[in-house]
This record gives sequence, C-alpha cells and structure tokens, in this order.
Amino acid sequence: MSGKIKNLLHFIFLFLITGCNETSLEKKIINTSIIPLPNKVIICEGYFFNYLKCKSDNLDFKEYFKIINTQFKNYYSKDKTLILNELNPNFTIKLSKDTNSKNDYYHLKVSKNKIFLNGNLKGIFYGLQTLSQLIFLNNKNIDNGVRIPCLEINDSNLFSHRGFLLDCCRHFFSVKTIKKYIELLAFYKMNVLHWHLTEDQGWRIQIDQYPKLNTIGSYRKDSLGKYGGFYTKEEIQEVVQYAQKRNIEVIPEIELPGHSTAAIASYPFLSCQQEPIEVANSWGVFKEIYCAGNDSVFIFLENIFDEIIPLFPSKRIHIGGDEAPKSRWEKCKKCQMRMQQNNLANEHELQSYFIERISKILSRKNREIIGWDEILESHIDSPISIQSWRGVSGGINAVKQGKKAIMSPTSHCYFDYDINSIDLEKVFSFNPMGENLDSSEKKLIIGGECNLWSERIPNEEKLDQQAFPRMLAMSEVLWSKEKDSYSNFQKRVGDQYYLLDRFKVKYGIEANPVNIVLNHHTNTTHATINSKIKNLKFCYHFGNEIFKQIDYGDSINIKKSNTLYVQAFKNDKKYGPEVHQKIEIHKALNKNYKYRYPYSEYYSANGENSLTDGRLGNLNYKDGNWQGFFGSDFEISIDLDSITYINDVSINFYQYINSWIVIPKSIYLYSSSNGKNWNKIDSLNNFDEISKRGKFIKNAHFKNIQISSKHIKLVAKNFESLPSWHEAAGAGCWLFTDEIILK
Ligand code: ACM
Ligand code: ZN
Repeated sequence: MSGKIKNLLHFIFLFLITGCNETSLEKKIINTSIIPLPNKVIICEGYFFNYLKCKSDNLDFKEYFKIINTQFKNYYSKDKTLILNELNPNFTIKLSKDTNSKNDYYHLKVSKNKIFLNGNLKGIFYGLQTLSQLIFLNNKNIDNGVRIPCLEINDSNLFSHRGFLLDCCRHFFSVKTIKKYIELLAFYKMNVLHWHLTEDQGWRIQIDQYPKLNTIGSYRKDSLGKYGGFYTKEEIQEVVQYAQKRNIEVIPEIELPGHSTAAIASYPFLSCQQEPIEVANSWGVFKEIYCAGNDSVFIFLENIFDEIIPLFPSKRIHIGGDEAPKSRWEKCKKCQMRMQQNNLANEHELQSYFIERISKILSRKNREIIGWDEILESHIDSPISIQSWRGVSGGINAVKQGKKAIMSPTSHCYFDYDINSIDLEKVFSFNPMGENLDSSEKKLIIGGECNLWSERIPNEEKLDQQAFPRMLAMSEVLWSKEKDSYSNFQKRVGDQYYLLDRFKVKYGIEANPVNIVLNHHTNTTHATINSKIKNLKFCYHFGNEIFKQIDYGDSINIKKSNTLYVQAFKNDKKYGPEVHQKIEIHKALNKNYKYRYPYSEYYSANGENSLTDGRLGNLNYKDGNWQGFFGSDFEISIDLDSITYINDVSINFYQYINSWIVIPKSIYLYSSSNGKNWNKIDSLNNFDEISKRGKFIKNAHFKNIQISSKHIKLVAKNFESLPSWHEAAGAGCWLFTDEIILK
C-alpha cells in the first residue's frame, strides 16, 4: 500500500455528506479501522447512505446472509438488517462470485449508490466481514439506513492457516462460549479452531466404545469436588457445522503418547505399568503415558479415531506428541522389546515409531497428522505438519525436511501467559516466517496459531481477557500482507473496543500499564512510573502509607526497603491489576557484576544489572524481575568499587517444578580483594527441596559473616541431583533468581 493511501486510511477524515437523507453540509467523521488491515484500500469522496438490499446471483451466499444477520442481531439487537432478494431490481448491494480468483480474495467497492462485492466463495465471506466492520465502525445505529464511506478494497490472505487453540480440558467451556469464539474468529478472518480435547486433566469427547473415558476420564477431583464434562457427538457436530459455515476448520487434538492420564485412569491397560491411577488434578507433565510396546494400545487408538473422524471433516487431525516423559518406556519390557524388534536406538526413536504408526492409521482413513515439534526428534517419513511451540526452530527444521509448519512459539503466541510476558506489541511483532529460508521452504510455513491453554483460564470472562485484544494482533499478523506501524495498529484496536463491547467481549489490557523505574544514586533511591499506555492516571502507596496520586515521570523518594503499590486508572476505572513491587535497599545496588554463565534471553528480567537493581520478584516468575539460567550452574562476581563491610548476604531462588524451575542444591559464597583470588567464606548444602510441588521462593541467607571485601562471588550448583521428572525437560532445568542482597 502506498504511504499516501495508508495515511489516508489512518487519519480521521472530514467529508461533506452528499448521500440521501442527510443535510448536505453536515460534517461526518469516517472510520476505517478495519482489523486485520486489508491489503489495498483507496478512500474515495462521499458516502453510501441507504438500506442494505442485496442481490446475488448465487445460492451459495444464502447461508452467509443468515450469518451476517446473526452478527447484526448481536451487534444492533435487530433482525434482518441485510435483506436478500435474488431478483430485487432496486438492490443496493450486489454480490458476484469470481471463481477464478485465488486464496481468500475479495474486491469491495462502495460507491454513493451501490456496493459491489466480488470474490471467490471464501473471499465473499471475508468481504462481508470487512463490510460489517465498516458498518459497525461508522454507524452507532442503523434505524435510518447504513452509512459507509465510499472506498475500494482489494484484499486477500497472507497465510492459509490462521489458528486459535482452545484448551477445553484444563477447564471446560460450553458450546455457547465456543460458538461465540467461532463468530469472533470469523469476524477477524481467522480460519482454524484447534480444539484441544484430551488431556491429563480430562477427556472431553464422547466415545461410545469406551464409555469409561466419559464416566471416569471426563472428571477430576479438585478442591471443590468433581470437575469436568465432555461434548456429546451431537454437540461436536453442532460446533463443527457452525464453524464450517463461517469458513473455520475445526481440527481436533487427541493427545498421544503423553498427556494421556485421563485415558489411562479410565483404562489402566493403556499404560506400561497397567496400574490404576486418577485423572490428574494438578498442572504439569505426567509420567504415565500410553505404552508403545502393547498392540492393544494401538487398537484402542484406532477405535477411538474410528469414532472421532466422522465428526470432523478436517483433513488434518492433531495428535499432540509433546512432553512425553520416557521413564516408563525405559523400564517397560514390552516397550524395550518393541525397540529391539524394530532396531530403535532409544526411546525418542520409539516415540517416532509411535507417531509413525498413528500416522499410518490415519492415512488409511484419508487423514494427515499435525504434531507438536517434539515429534520431529527423530525421523518420520509420513507427510506430517509440525506445530512449532518451543521457539520457531522446530518449524524451521520441519520445512527443511519438506514438511509443513505452523508457528506458535511460546515467545509470541501463548496467550495464556500474562501481559507482562506477551503484550499486544509483542504479538504484533510476531513474524511466523523464519529467517534464512528459501522460497520453497517459505511456502511450507502455512501460518500460525495463538494458544489459549486453560490451566489459569477457568471461565469465559478470563478467556476474553487473555484472548483480546491480543487476538487482533494475531489476526493481522496472519492475514495482512502489508505491515502497518504499531501506533496505527493501536489506534485501530482502540476503535475496535466499541465493537468488542457490543459483542460482550470482556477484553483485557494491551500492555502492563505500570512500569516502575528505580534510580539509585549514592544514598538515595527514587521510583518513577511510566507506561506504554497513554492517558492513564496512577495512584500509589509505599508500605502502609496512604494512597497518593502520581503522574507519568513524577518521582517517589524511596527511603527504606518496602513494597510500592501502584494502580493505573483509565477513564476513572481501574486499568489492570494493582502492581506490587518489592524494593530492597542494600549495599550492592547498582554495582557492576559479571556472569560466568549467561542468563536466558527468554527470562532476561531487566538485563545486565537485574541482580543489583533493588527489585525483588514475586510469586509470578514472569513478573519481569526473575532472571532465568537454563542448563547451567549460576555464578556471578560483584565488584563493590571499594572495600565494604558486609554482615549479611542473601539471594532468592524460585521453584516451580511443573515448569522445570528448581532451587539449587548447594550455594557457595566467596570474597576477594582483587576479583581473581577467591576465599571461600561459607556454603549452604542440601538446600534443595527438589520434590516440593507448587510455586515458592526460597531465600538463601549467609548471616553474620562480618567481612570487609571489595569483591563477592556467589556460586549455585544446578543439577547436582536431577529430579525424577527431569527427562520431560529434555536438555535440563532452570535456575531463577532476582537479586543479590548485601547488607
Ligand atoms: C505445549 O505447549 N506443550 C505444546
Ligand atoms: Zn510400555
């Protein structure tokens, strides 16, 4: 799109109205904040202003009218806004099917008297979505007709796979909620609902041949009692058809060989040990997985797919394949026998055998598999697609092997992560196309998905908050061929909120509204507040002090260690949660230090000086204060500039074994006068609580050390005793810390 057209599109225009029923000198604002951004938009002078009377020479579009009218009904609470009359000579909208056009192409021309929309079958659907957005953005009501700026749009999709993963296992969502989401996906031109239906915590699809999957596997015991449910075959068909009419492919995910605790709880013969277990009622990775050496498991799975496949017209079935710990396979006679018989070198190859066998079963049923990137750990011959979640490298490997890839890296696409880790701008910056690929490899990257894992999404309201507005950015990344500036995009998002309100979407925030900056000078510390979001007001209190108002950039004098609480407000309503920042005033503030092993770019906290910046982390390890080290020990040496008396050294570690974050087993403290020759001062051994589940912070404290030193070094040993769940982590586990506190 030319810069001129783009500018035209994003600025607010004042036009003289020349349409019917309006006084000709009335000035009106037009709004073209369409999301996703169409490829080419030319704004013309004037308005269409009339009722929507449609003519179409094609019966295929009949269903679309029903859909659009439902959309209008939800939006304006009015029936039959768009009147279809195939023969109407007084039409104001004409739809024409263009079978020659490619992809999801459409051409929309709005003139003063008539609207013309043509394109292929899907293209017309997307053209109608664009038209709906234009109508909603420009008409608060439509009692006296519909006003649309005159314009011309040529548009088509960038990627063919524009997906949204909904995990209905960790928490169960009603058919009503799923239909609401299907409507929203269609409205923003997304076209895949990846429906996660089986998990450790619940089996969610009716299976007649194995009724215990539903009587046992669909329910777990949680703190409030029995939790769960499943979708009947009728409900599944209802959802699939509802989606199909809106050009959305529903791809079911049936997880194997891991994440299968619920199935094994229903039928223990499916596991290696064949012992009774319960449906999981906590989150994480579980070691009971389908036995790869037992043919009955493959018969079971084939029977399951025989019932599932008729419900889903999708050519592709997602079979999971992620996070399958191999400890049971290592000790299982049948699995080991299978490896011997098939010359498989290790359990990773056994996993490939498993996937290949399932792929063949599905291929006989004319289906292809999609799997998470783990399934490429060893060679697979079948024509599979890979969904890359551990970064984009799995997807890049896949296309280099001639397989299709869908990109959904945790860094940009995990909408269950909170806004501190993945804000709207981060999603908008997502580029599913990996680097250094040739054109044939690029063609194999078919799109991306945003993933709504529901461990921490117990209901529709929270789902709305996590999905929106970030899904608007994902829709634009996957649809739009031209990249807009973030600030223009943000303005368009701002205009879309009104539409989302009308659709009863309880959207969340765009970014962390409160960014607390600490400035340390000799003997003084000040905090200032800034934000990526404009036009906010802030209130704060420090420790038990009373609330005070503060503006962007104002400074708060911090005299002692305590917690700073800040709440942002937008239009006098709370915007985002209250932010709590623990601040520690101590002798190493702002001092330089060196890392022996680098921190991970994924958990970088505030970068190089994070461990002496006075900011302590909270129980959310993604709060921006925890720095993560993967697969290495931890060692830093601090230069205190001059000889300093130190009585106390303390350091926090974090543990959450579900995410493979563990506290170290031993910690060593050293001092030095020159930063080269080190004297060991003390150590803490057997410090780990390796098997303790849940999230907690553990403080390592060297008390009463009474030394004077210029340099201090801390060493923490990771991996001294690897926990039993370690094999799930593959390459290692994490060590997280937030601050080295010297007093
Ligand atoms: C995944 O997030 N384990 C695919
Ligand atoms: Zn086995």
